[in-house]
Amino acid sequence: MLEKLRKLKELMCRAKTANVSPWPVLMQERLLADEKASFAEKLEFDAFLRPHFAYGTFFAALQAKALGLNRISVYEFGVGWGGGLMELERIAVMVEQETGVLVDVYGFDTGEGMPESLDYRDLPNVWQPGFFHLDVDALEKKLTKAKLILGNVKETMKDFIENEKPAPVGFVSFDVDYYSSTIDLLRIFDAQEDFLLPRVYCYLDDIIGDDWEIHCEYVGELLAIKEFNEQHEKRKISKINAFRFKRKIYAPWNEQMFVMHAFDHSLYCKYINPKPEWEEYKFGVAQ
Ligand SMILES: C[S@@+](CC[C@H](N)C(=O)[O-])C[C@H]1O[C@@H](n2cnc3c(N)ncnc32)[C@H](O)[C@@H]1O
Repeated sequence: MLEKLRKLKELMCRAKTANVSPWPVLMQERLLADEKASFAEKLEFDAFLRPHFAYGTFFAALQAKALGLNRISVYEFGVGWGGGLMELERIAVMVEQETGVLVDVYGFDTGEGMPESLDYRDLPNVWQPGFFHLDVDALEKKLTKAKLILGNVKETMKDFIENEKPAPVGFVSFDVDYYSSTIDLLRIFDAQEDFLLPRVYCYLDDIIGDDWEIHCEYVGELLAIKEFNEQHEKRKISKINAFRFKRKIYAPWNEQMFVMHAFDHSLYCKYINPKPEWEEYKFGVAQ
């Protein structure tokens, strides 16, 4: 009898992992409209317009709390028409309420759309100067919390950390499309450890796209990340391995979640796992 129950449980777990059941999607539908559901429950079923923002911001805040930090900063690099920044603001407020960690929000953009491209590495076959022109006044009227940093990131990122002295960076969404713009933004990860969590969640928008966008490690965001890793011995940006198996609903964003590991951060090795001694694994399987 016990053996049969164990087998049934195992089967249900497998079905869940392979997403062969429609119930996660039904739950997602219900939770999207449920104002009273907890943040964690919504996140479990991707019940956000941008679940990647929710995941990165929430887990950055939890990490900060576990490390004894009470404030973080989160970023949208490339604001476009502003929809993403408004959603990041909304999520930041929810995460503050849920975790007690304060979340500062920043958005970086030229304010005038895409700048001139550098060369083939910026994929000018996909994007052109002037695309995604932002109505700055209209967006600024709608923002409640986020700080908009306007100008080419080649200039605005240069002294950002020194001038702004932000709370530790916890989550970054890279969505400036070009290789050259991403290279300029990656300077944020050269900051001293006081301005970074030891593990910074990163969402890379421009590594999938439609069939006209053909991404690879020799162009675009992926090339910028590769070069960053080659140039930094103790800081590496790497995909969250097998992330899709942590999710109830398999979706493209599962392939776009990375983490910047600062191995030289004095808090990197601090034990923060909420499982005390992993006791639920005492009998060889998670209970
Ligand atoms: C695809 S749009 C961003 C869309 C936005 N993240 C969203 O989800 O709604 C790309 C943006 O990156 C900005 N961008 C690209 N290169 C930039 C640079 N060097 N400096 C500042 N902004 C840049 C462009 O102005 C453009 O608005």
